[in-house]
Amino acid sequence: MRPRAPENYVPLIRAADIDDRVAQLGRDITRDFADRPLTALVVLKGSFIFAADLIRHIALPLHVEFIGLRSYGDRTSTSGVVEITMDLKHPVEGQHILIIEDIVDSGLTIDYLRKNLETRSPSSVSLAALLHKPTAARVPVTIDYRGFEIADRFVVGYGLDHAGLYRNLPDIGYLDPPPA
Ligand code: IMP
Repeated sequence: MRPRAPENYVPLIRAADIDDRVAQLGRDITRDFADRPLTALVVLKGSFIFAADLIRHIALPLHVEFIGLRSYGDRTSTSGVVEITMDLKHPVEGQHILIIEDIVDSGLTIDYLRKNLETRSPSSVSLAALLHKPTAARVPVTIDYRGFEIADRFVVGYGLDHAGLYRNLPDIGYLDPPPA
């Protein structure tokens, strides 16, 4: 039985297309890191499904760490203030870090995280983001592994929520009309 989408849900990216793209990203990451051990840093909550799928396509020695960040609350636009809701549990000094993020919208969350990680002296920091809304950018962000570029609309599904709901939808879609 598939989870039921709300009435105003319009599918945008189907689960089969997400699967193909995520597998390709995993192959790219495997090739680029060429047997160097990697620490996947999963940004909670929205990235948990993307990360679970992506890491199973990365054929490298891999550690997984989690960090919780929040800047949206229940709204559909950033508050501009990024909070750590759950910090890393281990030092990442000297490690190659791959940030796994669901979506880069304004870019403020990733900008904050990259600056925060710099103070912890990793060997390198790369970014895998499933979705990117380039027209919403408020700060420049380099995405090393990008799944899909999308328009500046609020999307849900495949881990992404609105007010905590819809993370369990297998496809990604937007809400039309959008939430208030
Ligand atoms: P940014 O800081 O504006 O780039 O937003 C990054 C975070 O905001 C993401 O990790 C998501 O948690 C959330 N976010 C941004 N856009 C959307 C969206 O369209 N749907 C659901 N969550 C979003």
